[in-house]
Amino acid sequence: MCGIVGVLGEHEAAPILVDALKRLEYRGYDSAGIATVDNGHLSRRRAVGKLVNLSDLLVHDPLSGKAGIGHTRWATHGAPSVENAHPHQAGPVAVVHNGIIENFRELRTELSQSGIGFSTETDTETVALLTQHHLNQGHSPVEAARKTVARLHGAFALAFLFDGEDDLLIAARKGSPLAIGHGDGEMFVGSDAIALAPMTDTITYLEEGDFAVITRTSLEIRDANGELANREKRIIHMDDARVDKGLHKHFMAKEIAEQPQVIGEAVRHYLSEDGNSVDLPGDLDFTQVDRLTMVACGTAFYACLTAKYWFEQLAQLPVEVDIASEFRYREPPITKGTVALFVSQSGETADTLAALRYCEGKADSIVSVVNVSESSIARASDLSLPILAGVEVGVASTKAFTCQLTVLLMLALKAAEQRGTLSPERISDLLSRLRATPSILNAALEQDGAVAKAAQQLSESSDVLFLGRGLMYPLALEGALKLKEISYIHAEAYASGELKHGPIALIDKTMPVVVMAPYDALFDKTRSNMQEVLARGGKVVMITDEHGAHDTASDAWCTIVMPEIDPVLTPILYAIPAQLLAYHTAVAKGTDVDQPRNLAKSVTVE
Ligand code: AGP
Repeated sequence: MCGIVGVLGEHEAAPILVDALKRLEYRGYDSAGIATVDNGHLSRRRAVGKLVNLSDLLVHDPLSGKAGIGHTRWATHGAPSVENAHPHQAGPVAVVHNGIIENFRELRTELSQSGIGFSTETDTETVALLTQHHLNQGHSPVEAARKTVARLHGAFALAFLFDGEDDLLIAARKGSPLAIGHGDGEMFVGSDAIALAPMTDTITYLEEGDFAVITRTSLEIRDANGELANREKRIIHMDDARVDKGLHKHFMAKEIAEQPQVIGEAVRHYLSEDGNSVDLPGDLDFTQVDRLTMVACGTAFYACLTAKYWFEQLAQLPVEVDIASEFRYREPPITKGTVALFVSQSGETADTLAALRYCEGKADSIVSVVNVSESSIARASDLSLPILAGVEVGVASTKAFTCQLTVLLMLALKAAEQRGTLSPERISDLLSRLRATPSILNAALEQDGAVAKAAQQLSESSDVLFLGRGLMYPLALEGALKLKEISYIHAEAYASGELKHGPIALIDKTMPVVVMAPYDALFDKTRSNMQEVLARGGKVVMITDEHGAHDTASDAWCTIVMPEIDPVLTPILYAIPAQLLAYHTAVAKGTDVDQPRNLAKSVTVE
């Protein structure tokens, strides 16, 4: 993961670098650092923890200079510490890095044999030391960096800054994304265009294996073969609206509350003019599709699992769903007639991107469902469907999940229409119900108080089980993930019917069980599973509707009542109490809701 930034500017670099790092903090927040060159002199400042610690340090110990690089870290090699923080400096060169240098141990051994010592546990220090080694052999900064990059295996986005060079930045990418920003007599480098948004909207994306030599007035890019490469300059329309919490205490609370609005926008975006059908921004003929292979990570994976039910039930289309990190290395055969579909909020998740690359040239077409439309996954797709959730800051994904569900459901309805598996009347009926979801979601949000009460109780538990059946099973998985990641309470989810095959052994009076069960065709079965829990002294938090509450409230420890909704749409609605439950539990425990420990918003390492 990690975010990197570089600037060759007309103004002091430090504040620009810190501001850009703020925009990249979603990539990691274990430590941060910057380096600048001022009148030829290279210096750096680094601090452990959130970016604010670096800002504080810079107040007491400022850095001047109009050329600089910066980094916000999510630790891979070596604990979060000042020594392990980037930029890594070896004599006259400083380096920032996103990714993993897989052969760093071999390189370390080699450098040790030349008498070169190490002072950190990171893979990145090797890059700085190897570059210094090449400089010592008499190579120019550009040649030294080029020779270094040629030795690296793994995934990386790198920026180099050199002592004595006020007008030189070197950037290289393999695996990890890197954008070059063009200003007026200024140049920038960033892990993404968002980082550079206040400085420029003119971006060149480096491609695999590219090596860029940047000055304030020039950009020379060479491809993996060392040939001069002409990369497109794109104007990026980035919504640079200030992202703030409004009246909310946390971004997560704000993002949960925004769901009626953003889902409404997503529905409108894909709805045909007459409102009876779904319009896609490109060609996708589901009559020619034999199989859909869906790949994602984390919450996006649970959105895919939910969508599997929709595609199979509504469109009679066989679907495989896989976790990206498993998919790629399993090397599954991709048969003709397969559409590969990748779901990712950030569009930068390294595992998902690698899975996409695996499908290139094998699948009939590559489709993605993303939030960031300029992301690597979007750009690598034949058809990319934006979810229009707006910037999601909280590390725990909320509005992106429900917007992913909304777009995937609309895609499944498109497939059902083309394949003739649902009547036009039923499609139009489901679409009009989808249009009405924002007001139903608002009603669900009004249950905030009831959820907060239940959360107060959960916050005293050390383990929680989630149960769901059918469409509620992936939702149970998502509910457990949300609770784990922000409250640090151990949580597991099971398909309700699986409980008796093992997990029921865990049930006792200390184990709350969250049961997600709208009053649908499967309700009676889930109610039986709830009784099995109660019979063993377990405490049930029941999330259901009026009908379901009528049948179960007297037995449950607490009940959260959702509005009634068409069974097909329940996942979008029931995501709300699952998110609120995790949120209020985390608040009750006093954890860092928006930036929970050990996590990052965008996971750009495998
Ligand atoms: C969700 O709350 C997570 N923080 C995480 O599981 C996330 O969904 C996953 O890393 C995938 O990210 P992406 O959607 O940006 O690809």
